[in-house]
Amino acid sequence: MKVLEKAVESAVVYRQDTNEEHKKCFGQYFTPHEVSHFMSSLFNIENLGKNISILDPGAGTGTLSISLIEHILSSLNEKLEICLTAYEIDKKVANILNTNLTSLKEKCSEKGINFAFNIIQEDFVTLNHKVLNKNSSFKTAKYDLIISNPPYFKLNKTNPLTKLVSVLKITNIYAAFSAISALLLKPKGQTVFIIPRSFASGVYFEKYREFLFKNLKIEKIHLFKSRKKAFKEEKVLQENLIYMAVPKIHNETYKVRITTSEGIKDLSKNNFRLYSIDYLIDLHSKHYFLFLPTSNQDEYLINYFKKFKNLLADFKLTVSTGPVVNFRSKPNLTSYSEKLVPLIWLNNVMHGYIEFPIKSKFNKQSLILDSKIEKQLRANDNYILVRRFSTKDDERRIIAAPLLKDDYNFDRFGFENKLNYIYSKEIKLSKYMTKGISHLLNTNIYDNYFSIFNGNTQVSATELKNIPFPNKKTIIEIGELNYKSMEDLNLKIETILDSI
Ligand SMILES: C[S@@+](CC[C@H](N)C(=O)[O-])C[C@H]1O[C@@H](n2cnc3c(N)ncnc32)[C@H](O)[C@@H]1O
Repeated sequence: MKVLEKAVESAVVYRQDTNEEHKKCFGQYFTPHEVSHFMSSLFNIENLGKNISILDPGAGTGTLSISLIEHILSSLNEKLEICLTAYEIDKKVANILNTNLTSLKEKCSEKGINFAFNIIQEDFVTLNHKVLNKNSSFKTAKYDLIISNPPYFKLNKTNPLTKLVSVLKITNIYAAFSAISALLLKPKGQTVFIIPRSFASGVYFEKYREFLFKNLKIEKIHLFKSRKKAFKEEKVLQENLIYMAVPKIHNETYKVRITTSEGIKDLSKNNFRLYSIDYLIDLHSKHYFLFLPTSNQDEYLINYFKKFKNLLADFKLTVSTGPVVNFRSKPNLTSYSEKLVPLIWLNNVMHGYIEFPIKSKFNKQSLILDSKIEKQLRANDNYILVRRFSTKDDERRIIAAPLLKDDYNFDRFGFENKLNYIYSKEIKLSKYMTKGISHLLNTNIYDNYFSIFNGNTQVSATELKNIPFPNKKTIIEIGELNYKSMEDLNLKIETILDSI
């Protein structure tokens, strides 16, 4: 059996023998061998010297580093000295890693290659976080090649690691691994990481994105379009991407090669697209959203939206998240009564209209008032309500509806936390402007445009604040449209927008 197959096999056995809680705690999602091969193939190995240093942070059973080293051995016919540093915190996994790397060493020596490895059975972040601090005199080894499938789990406030990476406001351990590794590269080093796509637009990843794009020149990106298929074995429901990058030395624009696949089976299909980095990221905006076009239609949409010059703020509108958090307000939730203050939930917001109250088993649609909940209520006014979450089965990411004050006899509303609401603190938001914005958000082109930069199931207030809109006159014209169905409305809006 080849060493790589052995490493993959040992991960399978380990996975079967280990309880879910433990795997979750260490963020253990092992890379399938097809993905390891693909990641290794993204390195440019032609011009490596004879001494090659490799880092694999969060090495697991060694699949990635073994795959990379086997790739180097099969491509280069030189007498090489390869030195691997592998971090693996879990003792049981580190032992398996040791066995696998020992087999690799034997194979290397048969071929006359000098291979040395060092397993560091400690926390990668704790040992290396100081590299993120510009003023620190921290000195550490640097590497020619870094390959990683880092652990994935949220870093909450109580986790001691959160403080260590607070300069970048990092909220998930994978971003800590990626950011630290970026600074552990030699000037001509290369790094390949597989990470969830969710960092591409979320507000919690803003500082990390800024850091990443300032420090790395991202030469290649591979996007897995299916949420399920990159880690089929591991029940991971994230959209994942792989990036290959080198240290960014100069501040000039460069080309990024983007490839896509549904999952593993079609990984190596040759369908790349080349884009200038400033087409993919607006490096002057403080949000650094990463656009990932994967089709001609996506490209068309990015260009199409360039003609829309307004953000919600230009109409004196803003976006907030519903203040009523249902699990914190349990004593206040009660069944619907027209004498009580209504609570609007995500389920009440349909594609284009509000259904309230919903006549179903779901029935906590009114609020019993107390001083705490009083502060969270909003006056009856015109609002655009947008679901904050879509489920993995939803075809659309954006689902919006106008809430018009004249439709209800209530004085106030509660908005549940899984909703965003668009409103104005400064002006009266008119009925047709409200309907126009809601209609636009519900079109296919807005939904498709949104999914070019949004890589998760959430629609954040920051993302909504940064979607471009046409001018006020056009929005009102759209708000005044009569329509028979959402498809009919969609077509009518496209005709209006095409004529701009
Ligand atoms: C997502 S798994 C990937 C394993 C392997 N790289 C692969 O691709 O199959 C991440 C690995 O990192 C290890 N790990 C988790 N936290 C770590 C930490 N703070 N420092 C070092 N290793 C860690 C886990 O035990 C796990 O084996």
